[in-house]
Amino acid sequence: MKNAKNVNVLISVEELSKRIDELAMKISKENPCGNTVFVCVLKGAFLFASDLCRATSIRVDIDFITASSYSGTKSTGEVKISEGKPVNYNGKHVIVVEDIVDTGLTMKKICEHFEKIGAKSVKTATLLSKKAHRKHDVEIDYCGFDIEDNFVVGYGLDYNQKFRDLPFIGIYVGPTD
Ligand code: IMP
Ligand code: MG
Repeated sequence: MKNAKNVNVLISVEELSKRIDELAMKISKENPCGNTVFVCVLKGAFLFASDLCRATSIRVDIDFITASSYSGTKSTGEVKISEGKPVNYNGKHVIVVEDIVDTGLTMKKICEHFEKIGAKSVKTATLLSKKAHRKHDVEIDYCGFDIEDNFVVGYGLDYNQKFRDLPFIGIYVGPTD
């Protein structure tokens, strides 16, 4: 299997697949009434969202947004949200699909955004949660794995845009800038 220097496997392909099936089953059971939209937060959640939506037994619409809180290598403390073509969310049940919740700021701002533009309900799904850095209270409805305070890459997550293609989640142990 493909691997990378400076990355140690934390969650294997098999573990990811098993957990995503479990989350998809829970989502299917708890959201049976239709009008559900998965909003994939780019770029990191692209693989998680695509595997999760295919594993559900309910029909869901898919949308994408970009959220960034970093300018260069520094967090600005502000989250910029950009959508493509505006979609009408009135009456829609949104499930925000994220790669990782760290301080909680990004997820909090995204949820507030969808509440403001008229979504009927807003739920959250994240593959990973790092509680050690949590500063903002966010309710996570569907969480894949709670992880320790390590910088992780793979399965969509990056370090400087690298490693997104790895099929597992690994701890980045290489040089940082
Ligand atoms: P927040 O601090 O919860 O707002 O997280 C901000 C964003 O930082 C997340 O959506 C991720 O894209 C990114 N991030 C946080 N921790 C990691 C990590 O360990 N690896 C890769 N990206 C991360
Ligand atoms: Mg992200």
